[in-house]
Amino acid sequence: MTVLLAGGAGYIGSHTAIELLNAGYDVVVADNYSNSCPESINRVEKITGKSVKLYELDIKDTDKLEKVFEENNIDAVIHFAGLKAVGESVSKPVMYYRNNIDTTLSLLETMGRYNVKNIIFSSSATVYGEENPVPYVETMKRGVCTNPYGWTKAMMEQIFEDTARADAELAVILLRYFNPIGAHESGMIGEDPNGIPNNLMPYVSQVAIGKRECLTIFGNDYPTADGTCTRDYIHVTDLAVGHVRAVDYIIKNKCVEIFNLGTGVPYSVTEIVETFERVNGVKVNHVYGARREGDLAECYANADKAYEILGWKTERTLEDMCRDSWNWQKNNPDGYCK
Ligand code: NAD
Ligand code: UD1
Repeated sequence: MTVLLAGGAGYIGSHTAIELLNAGYDVVVADNYSNSCPESINRVEKITGKSVKLYELDIKDTDKLEKVFEENNIDAVIHFAGLKAVGESVSKPVMYYRNNIDTTLSLLETMGRYNVKNIIFSSSATVYGEENPVPYVETMKRGVCTNPYGWTKAMMEQIFEDTARADAELAVILLRYFNPIGAHESGMIGEDPNGIPNNLMPYVSQVAIGKRECLTIFGNDYPTADGTCTRDYIHVTDLAVGHVRAVDYIIKNKCVEIFNLGTGVPYSVTEIVETFERVNGVKVNHVYGARREGDLAECYANADKAYEILGWKTERTLEDMCRDSWNWQKNNPDGYCK
């Protein structure tokens, strides 16, 4: 069985490639390296001892994408190829709508031409919006998103649902990720953000290693136990295994399903910083600052459905996440390609 990972050289795609290869799947990756580089896939091959067929292309370019389908017998597609920086999506909305929506349409069109009927999509907890109460359950309606990035995810979910409604043969799984952190236990692959990290864990790691002076914790006056925001942090390897379970499932079932991929357990920003310091024996300089616009006080999953239907649940602890994030950062202080 062959799985095409669109955007597979990135953070989540590269970890998923490892777990798919370990489970016996063949993996084809197509990526334009707009936020990654081929070295991640070299390392996937080193870790697994297996080879990955790699294409450098823009998924929006249907002529080039066709070649991938022509040359490979693809059983399922996982669509990771998207731009994901929330702040940038506010300043460059057209770029986000163009890239994220067009990659989706190109994949669906090309799959249609080559009769490929299984697709799994990287969605986000952000589609629950501001209205729904935590913990989020898949049966809740999508909410009002707070930024263009979030809207692209909500729109793409709608596009997949409409397309599946029109084609009874098309199977779709929408995976709503919570907050992926951590890295492969080998320390050879991990998250490699460009410039100043937007997300918490890469920022924490870069402060710990001395690349950044100080972490600002955005707000300590939220209605939570310690006043800082809580999130459902999930180890990227657990998330990757969730994709393998989704592929196993979609190949056998003509489904249209949504699954939360989270632990169901929220941790606060302060707990993340304290756990990182304790587990790794390092100092993370931090100060408390103003709230960041658009942040919710709490965000965590009800993770029951993925367990009931896919037989998947997370196995790694917050300590594992902090240890593995630091291991990657220490081994690769400048990421892959810099
Ligand atoms: P990433 O940026 O590391 O990976 C995305 C990959 O897609 C990159 O390798 C990038 O080069 C590639 N890409 C983007 N546009 C492309 C295009 N037009 N053609 C070809 N390749 C293209 O991000 P990630 O963290 O691995 O996230 C993967 C997916 O999961 C994204 O769609 C993201 O929005 C979604 N997601 C991520 C998170 C998170 O916290 N990391 C949370 C929820 C959802
Ligand atoms: C953000 C996006 C979400 C996206 C996800 C992955 C928003 C509102 N949500 O989630 O749509 O899917 O990234 O790209 O932007 N924090 C600090 N200091 C920092 C950085 C973060 O205190 O320097 C705090 C934040 O306030 C938040 C928590 O850490 O409470 C996690 O932040 P982050 O890693 O950016 O993820 P989210 O905001 O949850």
